Amino acid sequence: MPTGTPYYITTPIYYVNDAPHIGHAYTTLACDVLARFMRLDGRIVHFLTGTDEHGQKVEKSARAAGMDPLAFCDKVSQNFRDLARAMNFSNDDFIRTTEQRHIIASQAIWNELKARGQIYLGSYAGWYSVRDEAFYAESELVDGKAPTGADVEWVEEPSYFFRLSAWQQPLLEHYAAHPGFVAPESRRNEVVSFVQSGLRDLSISRTSFGWGVPVPEDPDHIMYVWLDALTNYITAVGYPDTASDSFRSFWPASLHMVGKDILRFHAVYWPAFLMAAGIAPPRRVFAHGWWTIEGQKMSKSLGNVISPLELIDRYDLDPVRYFLLREVPFGNDGDFSHRQMVHRINGDLANDYGNLVQRVLSMVAKNCGGATPDDGARRPEDAALIGAARDLLPVVRELLEEQSFHKALEAIWEVVGQANRYVDEQAPWTLRRTDPPRMAAVLYALAEAIRHLAILTQPFMPQASARILDQLAVPAGERTFAHLGPEHALRPGTPLPRPEGVFPRHVETAEASA
Ligand code: MSP
Repeated sequence: MPTGTPYYITTPIYYVNDAPHIGHAYTTLACDVLARFMRLDGRIVHFLTGTDEHGQKVEKSARAAGMDPLAFCDKVSQNFRDLARAMNFSNDDFIRTTEQRHIIASQAIWNELKARGQIYLGSYAGWYSVRDEAFYAESELVDGKAPTGADVEWVEEPSYFFRLSAWQQPLLEHYAAHPGFVAPESRRNEVVSFVQSGLRDLSISRTSFGWGVPVPEDPDHIMYVWLDALTNYITAVGYPDTASDSFRSFWPASLHMVGKDILRFHAVYWPAFLMAAGIAPPRRVFAHGWWTIEGQKMSKSLGNVISPLELIDRYDLDPVRYFLLREVPFGNDGDFSHRQMVHRINGDLANDYGNLVQRVLSMVAKNCGGATPDDGARRPEDAALIGAARDLLPVVRELLEEQSFHKALEAIWEVVGQANRYVDEQAPWTLRRTDPPRMAAVLYALAEAIRHLAILTQPFMPQASARILDQLAVPAGERTFAHLGPEHALRPGTPLPRPEGVFPRHVETAEASA
């Protein structure tokens, strides 16, 4: 069992041009579940998120808001911190690229690249998309726009370049030597063929505006926002102090979680920058898909942007967390619909998990004196149920190691289903009259299975799982994965609090369904 090994997980840092929406919440949620899982699994976790505050896009948004860029960043960055609190994210740090520690780190990596002959001064003439903060070659344009559909503008200015072309071969070797470096596999193939098609040197400084990290010793230039932004991942673990404890324990990062739109920056440019600076690349980059809303692209102009705060208000936090990771195979694009959300809440949560917990706990409350029932002589069917719950951890661990959240939840819900079938087959309501000790044994087996399920659902639904564990009187200090298994099994006779429902059915109000 992997104990105590460090696990460093990062979200992209979010542009502060926009209020947080469900797409932002999704990326960080996926990381939060992994961070919580790894902590419960005994690993030393560092979970980083933050905001990307430099560049032309942010400068433009600040201007449009009539604000000084830093004051604007302070304001919008706070929205992302508020989102983290509202979503119950357990990040250990929140980095802002306008912080001093980050400016120091960005200039340090620049100096390192320069000292290693990886940077030269030239001039850039080509297309730039402010929305994507990306340079495009003429040949990449589609109908005069970026391949992403964003507007482009012609830029001609002195610029420093990074010798990206020199890293084509090392990158290809790196992908070949580390097949898990880019995931899912289809994305990996895209990255490999992009690199195989040849790499041009990359413009890494701008002179036509000023909102960025100054290039060391050439204050006419600011660093290209992506070089600055990517560096946040090492800033946060202490770079340039590579001898620090945090850098030594947490770098290379275990996982950079990103959306598919920013994979190239993370899987091509970033490892090239790092290798060129003599720093190890991260272990893995996972690109997840995008959410559409009721079949349409989410956009301000369509007015269909979903705010996570509204969703939480309407459905409650843990059901939202569950839905986002259960509904769509992680890595695929997915469509958000209120109908599906309600379907999952009423099906998986209320009918399956919630009902299991509710009926078992209320039978215990009524028929076992409000205390954990006695564990009788175990029959094969009892052992099978408890065994299935105990066998879940390695399965879920392996699935989460490959970021298969939906499959991990499916595996847990198979045992929820098994437990529900067991209740029906054993019919403890009949045993109450015919064989009370057997009824107690059945309820014990169920309660012990539920203890396992609730420990395992903690990363996904921390509050709801805690409420279930509270109702089973599982001590707060006995809720990690080390407490799964027989050694910490429920103790018969332990007084239990009054049971209360954890996953209510969602009933549409006339207003909400209109
Ligand atoms: N600032 C850069 C990242 C720099 S990382 C060194 C950036 N920021 S962003 O705010 O535009 O996007 C952040 C993340 O949100 C990306 O991973 C992106 O894929 C994700 N999403 C934005 N809209 C989304 C959906 N509609 N659906 C799912 N995720 C989406 O890019």
